[in-house]
Amino acid sequence: MAEVIIVPDATEGGRVAAGLIAALVQANPRAVLGLATGSTPLTTWEALEPLALDLTEVAAFALDEYIGLPVGHPESYRSVITREVVERLGMTPELVHVPSYDGDPETAGEKYEAAIRAAGGVDLQILGIGRTGHIGFNEPGSSLASLTRVKALTRMTREDNARFFPSIDDVPVHCITQGLGTILRARRLVLLAFGSSKASALAKSVEGPVSSGHPGSVIQLHPDVVVIADEAAASELEHAEYYRFAWENHFNVG
Ligand code: F6R
Repeated sequence: MAEVIIVPDATEGGRVAAGLIAALVQANPRAVLGLATGSTPLTTWEALEPLALDLTEVAAFALDEYIGLPVGHPESYRSVITREVVERLGMTPELVHVPSYDGDPETAGEKYEAAIRAAGGVDLQILGIGRTGHIGFNEPGSSLASLTRVKALTRMTREDNARFFPSIDDVPVHCITQGLGTILRARRLVLLAFGSSKASALAKSVEGPVSSGHPGSVIQLHPDVVVIADEAAASELEHAEYYRFAWENHFNVG
């Protein structure tokens, strides 16, 4: 079962997530991180900065990337990861990977999967969740065994991400994303959810039936999941009181 940690706000959630990353990197300076973009992980990167960890040997793999934005576009996930994570935390750019579309939809994901394998796999994958239930950009209907590939985004996801663009028409329709099967191979998943708009998607992910109709529910198939949610995002969890009790009495999550 997932360890569900309910925190007062996103700032505290970021501190908890940063603590998990710090413990990993202190134990293994060559750890491999899985990075999410979007707004949710920002408090984690903010909390990591003052810890001044040496991340120069840490490798990282981003979950996803838009297709169709010009190289260097400020909202490409390559640019976002460079700005928010690599430069801020002093990572080595050559060790930080973002998927990119190579022009062939049949093979686009294979190189990325091979690069993750060659790095020894992801030790800790940070995840956010979309209102459609997506993790990475695996929208409803994604195979629970899927690997990195090209996907179309839902209208709802494009509406949500339009805040980063002049209008929804500027939000790309396509992306390349790690699959749900790729995400499941990471040794630990840390799913972050902040704000009431995530409450329904989070409850379905943690407590609903496992279904490709709600991609986030795939986390229930993973043996080591930490869910960090603020009060608003946790508000639809049926067993919230039990999760609080279990966390107050935990003895094995670092
Ligand atoms: C981003 C990603 C997405 C986001 C999700 C939530 O790399 O894979 O799954 O985590 O869309 O986005 P925010 O955090 O902006 O609400």
